[in-house]
Amino acid sequence: MAARSLNVLRAQARTCRNCPLWERATQTVFGEGAAHASILLVGEQPGDQEDRQGRPFVGPAGHLLETALERAGIDRAATYVTNAVKHFKWTAAGEGRGKRRIHQKPNTTEVRACQPWLLAEIAAVAPRVIVALGATAAQSLLGSAFRVTQNRGKALPSTYGAPIVATVHPASILRGPPEQREAELARLVDDLRVAAASASAASLAGAPANGRRARRPATARQPHG
Ligand code: URA
Repeated sequence: MAARSLNVLRAQARTCRNCPLWERATQTVFGEGAAHASILLVGEQPGDQEDRQGRPFVGPAGHLLETALERAGIDRAATYVTNAVKHFKWTAAGEGRGKRRIHQKPNTTEVRACQPWLLAEIAAVAPRVIVALGATAAQSLLGSAFRVTQNRGKALPSTYGAPIVATVHPASILRGPPEQREAELARLVDDLRVAAASASAASLAGAPANGRRARRPATARQPHG
């Protein structure tokens, strides 16, 4: 069956009722980026900022991701960025008007309910490599027994037409001890470099995942001199 276009998928996902998370979310946060990106990145679910703006990875974790991509020589605009779950799951903390919305991890049923959207995005983009940011994304694609800590930073074969490189979620670096932040960021950058190298190798080998168009290279042009 032909892959549905991203625009069609985005429009269809707007009214998704596959699980109850839509009831408390502001909107569906669908993936965005280059339609035929060679690198497709998958996070967990939108956070507070993403829920309000309707765009993935635009809050603090997104800013750190952007820094990591930049250091790895990857142009975010040339990638496609999405989440395993498309609605913000949250619980209220505090009282009255100052109430904050605290992120809650999606459960297996919610991840499974949203998986058809993720798989459809992968089919539409046909990336050369998929980057799973954190356990939720990795387990959505590789099964619940998958452990990021044991398998991070490797291009693992997958059934999605492209290898998967699993790594930590940028939010876990922000939550971790501040004195370890630089070292953890450097490890994330290393894992992203593995993904970029894998995408380049596939491109050099002339392995178009679906053979239907020219792609934007994900790696940023290096300045001369
Ligand atoms: N965390 C995610 O996993 N995805 C986002 O879009 C934002 C934060």
